[in-house]
Amino acid sequence: MDILNIITKKKNSEELSLEELKYVVENFLNGNIKDYQMSSLLMAIVLNGMTDEETVNLTKVMIESGDVLDLSDIDKVIVDKHSTGGVGDKTTLILIPLVASTGIKIAKMSGRGLGHTGGTIDKLESIEGFQVKLEEDEFKKQIKEIGLSVISQTSNLVPADKKIYALRDVTGTTESIPLIASSIMSKKIASGANIIVIDVKVGNGALMKNETDARKLADLMIKIGASYDRKVVCVLSDMTEPLGYAIGNGLEVLESINLLKNNGPEDLKELVITLATQMVSLGKNIDIEDAKNEVTTNLENGKAYDKFKQLVEYQHGNIDKIKISDNILSIKSSKTGFIKSIDAFSLGELAKLLKAGRTNKDDIIDHSVGIVLSKKVGDYVLEDEELLKLYVDNIVDDDDKKVILGKINQYFEISDSSDYNKKLIIDIIS
Ligand code: URA
Repeated sequence: MDILNIITKKKNSEELSLEELKYVVENFLNGNIKDYQMSSLLMAIVLNGMTDEETVNLTKVMIESGDVLDLSDIDKVIVDKHSTGGVGDKTTLILIPLVASTGIKIAKMSGRGLGHTGGTIDKLESIEGFQVKLEEDEFKKQIKEIGLSVISQTSNLVPADKKIYALRDVTGTTESIPLIASSIMSKKIASGANIIVIDVKVGNGALMKNETDARKLADLMIKIGASYDRKVVCVLSDMTEPLGYAIGNGLEVLESINLLKNNGPEDLKELVITLATQMVSLGKNIDIEDAKNEVTTNLENGKAYDKFKQLVEYQHGNIDKIKISDNILSIKSSKTGFIKSIDAFSLGELAKLLKAGRTNKDDIIDHSVGIVLSKKVGDYVLEDEELLKLYVDNIVDDDDKKVILGKINQYFEISDSSDYNKKLIIDIIS
């Protein structure tokens, strides 16, 4: 077998066999296949696609590139959640303790942010002292003792995805449904859960820009899950404006704590309850209405917040110490009217520019910076009224400031009409 033939096959839209995919993944990991050859193959996949069978096979060889966690000694039912990534998406921080507060075991391995979207691990690290790296035995011990743990992915879990994802990120090969499905599902299956709920974000702030592609991705992930006997439910949710008001690590943790104290934004609450309902219904095998009642009660009566505090304490975090910049710039609207849309992608990019996110994998982020919206889609704003606050650090010099301030008004579409077309939960597919 040789890589040139394999690239040529995919260039001609032919199907790759399991053996060929295994050859590619093994030899890319051991360095025999070079980055430029792999990039060429990835681009051919982006352009010509893969059949469902090829994607299932690619997922299989990716899973087999590393360790597979066996959590069956903890519980028969382990539930996991994943998001395809969005702007201001702090859902995991609330959802995980909420579901654990109903007695379901949660073993969560999360990632860091890359590109315009954030990552749960960076958010948790804005809590002083919070440890995101645990050995497998400590991870399992914690789940047995308190019912949940959230850690960064261990280095030997799907190492093929780590190497391929890093290359995709810098070669314009991220946006491919089979590559995204195999990347997500290989990690979910290798991390040991048998019930997986996936939040598939749709809109300009998400990887899937339209509903048709989001449905294709959801169907494919459900199919891959079924081939491993995992139950997968996909919730399609809107990402045409940021979720909640806060974007940036420490600010998002504070907003999550507010919701856990029953004082958070409505859109975030609706999404958390929808996802938690699915997780609890499947995890306890109870009907949707009962699951929804249970999660709504536990969110509103403080049980979920108690679980969150327990999680933070167990992983050595100090919940009273979350770094937030006190250098705040208020951005005013240049127009009067109803907010019709907010460009989530550009706000994600802006947060990255403030150093809330990374441009390169090894960049050091600033947990204290970010954006807090003062208005959401549907709100009325007056000229000169505040649109948002920027929490900046002294790294933003005057030239940067001018560029930033000049652009922000363009991210808000303001109209005379109060009509807008937005539904947070687009569909639930199982
Ligand atoms: N999230 C992943 O884990 N992988 C992708 O390819 C895209 C989003």
